[in-house]
Amino acid sequence: LQVNTSWEAASKIPQILFGLFFEEINHAGAGGIWAELVSNRGFEAGGPNASNIDPRKIIGDESSIYVKTERASCFSKNIIALRMEVLCDECPAGSVGIYNPGFWGMNIEEGKAYNLVMYIRSMEPVELTVSLKSSDGLQNMASADIVDNNVSYWRKIQLQFVAKGTCITSRFELTTFKRGVIWIDQVSLMPSDTYKGHGFRKELIHMLVDLRPQFLRFPGGCFVEGISLRNAFRWKETVGPWEESPGHYGDVWNYWTDDGLGYYEFLQLAEDLGAEPIWVFNAGISHNDEVNGTALTPFVKDALDSIQFARGSAESAWGSVRAANGHPEKFPLKYVAVGNEDCVNSVYHGNYMQFYKAIREAYPDIQIISNCDGSTKPLDHPADLYDFHVYKKADLIFQMKDKFSNISRTGGPKAFVSEYAVNNDAGDAGSGSLLASLAEAAFLIGLEQNSDIVHMASYAPLFVIANDRRWIPDAIVFNSWKQYGTPSYWMQTFFRESSGAVIHPVRLASSYSDSLAASAITWKDDEHMFLRIKIVPVSSGLQSAAEKMEALLLPYSFTGFDLALH
Ligand code: AHR
Repeated sequence: LQVNTSWEAASKIPQILFGLFFEEINHAGAGGIWAELVSNRGFEAGGPNASNIDPRKIIGDESSIYVKTERASCFSKNIIALRMEVLCDECPAGSVGIYNPGFWGMNIEEGKAYNLVMYIRSMEPVELTVSLKSSDGLQNMASADIVDNNVSYWRKIQLQFVAKGTCITSRFELTTFKRGVIWIDQVSLMPSDTYKGHGFRKELIHMLVDLRPQFLRFPGGCFVEGISLRNAFRWKETVGPWEESPGHYGDVWNYWTDDGLGYYEFLQLAEDLGAEPIWVFNAGISHNDEVNGTALTPFVKDALDSIQFARGSAESAWGSVRAANGHPEKFPLKYVAVGNEDCVNSVYHGNYMQFYKAIREAYPDIQIISNCDGSTKPLDHPADLYDFHVYKKADLIFQMKDKFSNISRTGGPKAFVSEYAVNNDAGDAGSGSLLASLAEAAFLIGLEQNSDIVHMASYAPLFVIANDRRWIPDAIVFNSWKQYGTPSYWMQTFFRESSGAVIHPVRLASSYSDSLAASAITWKDDEHMFLRIKIVPVSSGLQSAAEKMEALLLPYSFTGFDLALH
C-alpha cells in the first residue's frame, strides 16, 4: 500500500460527512431512545372512537371491574380517556385496577427515581394506589397512595417513585378497593435521569455519541410518508404541551407512537449530539395516496412553519411555540429533505418545485435535498443535494465502493447517501454480520475518497428493539434494559475521525487488490498529527486476505506518526 502524503495530492473531507439516520422504525423512538415507560399513555391508540387500552391489562375480573375508553378527556386533541368502574364494595387491596407493562416490560432499577404524571377525575373522592411491580405483580419496587377529595374536575397528579428493588420487566399498576367510577388519562412515567435531562434514554444515546455523528436525519424513512397520508408524521401534532399531542399510528411499521419524541425533541437531540439537524418532511405523498396542485398548499405552509419553529425568533408565531417548549434560542436548521424515496411518484417533480420555490424565497441559505437520484443522470430540477439510498447484498455493496469514482464532476448537487446497508438478499447480513460490516466499510472508503461529491452518509436503520424486529439488520439492538452494537455499528467507529480529516491518495499493489479497499486519512489535535490507514478485505478468501494483511503490516515501522493499528 502506497500512501501519497504530499499535501498537493490530499483533499479535505467535509466536516459533515458521517452522521446518523434516525427513523421511528423497530420502536427506535417509542420504547427506544424516548425514555417514556408507559405505552399508549393517552389511550388514543385505538383512534378517536375505538376502544383500545392495549397494552394495558385489567387486574380483577368481570365481577369486580369494568373498563372502557370514552370521549371524556379534558384534552381536546386527545379526547379519549379510560373509564374504570369498580364494582366491589370492599375489594381486597391491590386486587382491582389496571396495569401497563410498557414496551415489553419497564426497566425499574433500585435507587433510581421515576416521575409519574397522570390525570384523574371522579364524582367521588378517590383512594388509589400506584405502584411499580414485577411482571407477575408479586414484587413491589415502589408504591404511593393517592387520596384526593377534589377530583370532580380533571386533576393532575404528579409524584416521584424511588425504586427499592430492580426488575427489568416491571409494570405500572393503578389499583383501588373502593366502589365507584374513575376516569384516567395521560399517564406518563419517565426515569428522572435522562440524557441531558431531555427525556432520552442515556445508554442508547451514549452509543450514538460514541460515533461522533455530524448530522441527524429524522424522523424517517417511510415513517415520514405513511402508507396513507392520514398516518404520515405531522410535526404540528407533536409540539406544544405533551398532553395535547394525539400520537399516531405509524402504518408503515405497524405500531402506535404517542409522539413523545416529536419534532422539537428531534431538534433537541441533534443539538445534544452536536449534530446538524436534517429534517425530512412529507412531500404530499404517501405510499398509497398523494396530493398536488392547490391541495399541496397546506403542506408547503406546514414546511415553512416547521422551519420557522426551528429558526424563527421567540416572538414569531411558531418560534414562540418552541420557546414555550423550553428553547428560546433558535435551532440551527440548515438542511431539509423534500419527502423520502418519492421521486418515483408522478406528482413528485411538481410538488418538489412548490416546496423548493417557497423555501428558497423565504430561507435562501437552507440546503434543499431532492429525492431524485443525481448519480445516474443530472437532475432536471434545482437542488443542493440529492438523496441516495442503497440496500444490497455484501458483494454488491463492496463493488459500490467505486460508484462515485466514475461520476463526472460537473459542479451539480452533491450526494447525500442517507441510507446504506448490506441487506439480507443473499443472507449475508443476518441480524448483523462481520461480512456485511466489511462490505459497508469498503463502501464508506469509497465515499471518503469521493467526498468532493458525496457530502454526507448514514447507515440505516439505526435501532431495533429485540422484542419486535420490523427490519433486520440494524446498527444497534436493545431491549428494556440493555443494548449492543452489531458489526455494522462497530465498523462505523473506524470512520468517526474521518469527518473533517484529510484524505490521501493510496495505491494498492497486491494480488488481492480486487477484493481490497483502502484509504489513508490524517487529522490533528493540538499536539499530534494522526494517520489512519484502513484496509478492508472482502472475498471468499476473506480470512487468508486478513491474515496476509496482518503479516505484511506488522513488521513495518511508521515514523513521524503515533500508530494506531486496528
Ligand atoms: O431504512 C428502512 C427503510 O428503507 C426506510 O424507511 C426507507 O426510506 C427505505 O426504503
